[in-house]
Amino acid sequence: MKKEKLKSQIEVFVCNHHRDNEEACAGKGAKELTDKLKKWAKEEHKGEIKVYRSGCLGKCSEGIAIACYPEKKFLLEVTADDFKEIKQGLEEAL
Ligand code: FES
Repeated sequence: MKKEKLKSQIEVFVCNHHRDNEEACAGKGAKELTDKLKKWAKEEHKGEIKVYRSGCLGKCSEGIAIACYPEKKFLLEVTADDFKEIKQGLEEAL
């Protein structure tokens, strides 16, 4: 096993889980929101903020669910309209 320290200060995991005929974040616009957050983080905070697509975070009925580290905080009931607020919150956490 090899260990390596993470380079980014903030790691953001956006649930993109999909289920047929059941509630899941993918059906609530998670993919589009993740694409926007990844693009923003790469362009404006490369090396500081890293955004990942994740599997189910166990908060399906409250999705779109986002987990933020090192704050150990969930953002829940997120919609595409929350993009600006998410960006602001992450920048404040830097
Ligand atoms: S499907 Fe997103 S938290 Fe479970």
